Amino acid sequence: MAGLRLEFPTVLAPGPLSRDGPAVKRAAEQHGVGAVVVKTVYPIDEDTPRPCMAALRGDTLINHDWSALSAEKFCRQMKIAKEGRKPVIVSILGNIEEEIKMAKLLEEAGADMVELPIANPPLEQLRENIRRIKEEVTIPLGVKIGPDIQDIPRYAREIEQAGADYISGINTLGPVLAIDAKTGKPLLGSKFGYGYLSGPAIKPVALRCVAEMAKSVKIPIVGGGGIRDGKDAIEFLMVGATCVHLHTAAILKGLGVFSKIVEEISEISKKLGYNSLEEIRGLSLRYLKEEPSLARRIPNVNHDLCNGCGICERACAYTAIKVHESVAKVEEGACFGCGLCATVCPVNAIKLE
Ligand SMILES: Cc1cc2nc3c(=O)[nH]c(=O)nc-3n(C[C@H](O)[C@H](O)[C@H](O)COP(=O)(O)O)c2cc1C
Ligand code: SF4
Ligand code: SF4
Repeated sequence: MAGLRLEFPTVLAPGPLSRDGPAVKRAAEQHGVGAVVVKTVYPIDEDTPRPCMAALRGDTLINHDWSALSAEKFCRQMKIAKEGRKPVIVSILGNIEEEIKMAKLLEEAGADMVELPIANPPLEQLRENIRRIKEEVTIPLGVKIGPDIQDIPRYAREIEQAGADYISGINTLGPVLAIDAKTGKPLLGSKFGYGYLSGPAIKPVALRCVAEMAKSVKIPIVGGGGIRDGKDAIEFLMVGATCVHLHTAAILKGLGVFSKIVEEISEISKKLGYNSLEEIRGLSLRYLKEEPSLARRIPNVNHDLCNGCGICERACAYTAIKVHESVAKVEEGACFGCGLCATVCPVNAIKLE
């Protein structure tokens, strides 16, 4: 990835699990972690309003964790961070002069790459910033984009042309709000209680963003947002990610989730008949066509698999599927071809013809 060979295609994205040297070491020592991106460092130490994290239903997280070490302080912890023996990528944020200074300091201290998280900067300024940082350091520079960028293909192309070595994304989605129904108070202590969303709820947004990046550039892509298991990771590789990143699942399930994910990537790839990640990368892009498909595809129920649970019957808004004698049957005339039943069946008994 951008000149580095990663032992695993799974990167710890920046967040509290990579907040300082000892945390980076701990994460890097974990089986399945290919590289660690250090939680964004600023020119000076920064505190954050608290509470700054809350878990919502479905493994989704809302956070307003703006805490940060200064770049200088992290440099003093680089030695311990590198004891984990995995590439250390440091996310940096400041004005351009500060970013150049931090990037140089970090390169000297032994960082393997630096990464710029961007919100929605004017393109010209972004181009200039990338160009100026690239002039000052020899280690690779990545740019991490968030979901609020409207024209991702244009941004991605500009980032590549300005000389960045990889693109990463997505960052968290927001602002969002979570309320405690018992008290009426917001769950977070930030301004207006606002926070930013991560975890499975943002995965479909992230997949779309990563597919748009992959269609637009040739530089490597670190793709993710909401990855919880090997299947999620494979989906990101299929839309063109070179490797994947995650953080929320590692917070909620522990760092051991990395080991599980790399094993699942291997198992699923073998089951699908792929021999390498190369065969998987970008596989879906050819199916993402501009022309919509108007053909109505009727679902076909595999009677051997169907157990008559009735989930498809309840989900069909067109009352076109009914369980009869413990098997689901489709009434072709009533079926709209919406496709929902094929995605709700827990035993995959329904396929669209
Ligand atoms: C508590 C928390 C703190 C985060 N801090 C940072 C950060 O400092 N810099 C950054 O670029 N992304 C930060 N992120 C975003 C993650 O790196 C990641 O891009 C995002 O959460 C989506 O991936 P996930 O759903 O696997 O967590 C943070 C995420 C969380 C949950
Ligand atoms: S959801 Fe699947 S298993 Fe359940 S009744 Fe429908 S087809 Fe059968
Ligand atoms: S495809 Fe849609 S309309 Fe047709 S049976 Fe399934 S859920 Fe009902």
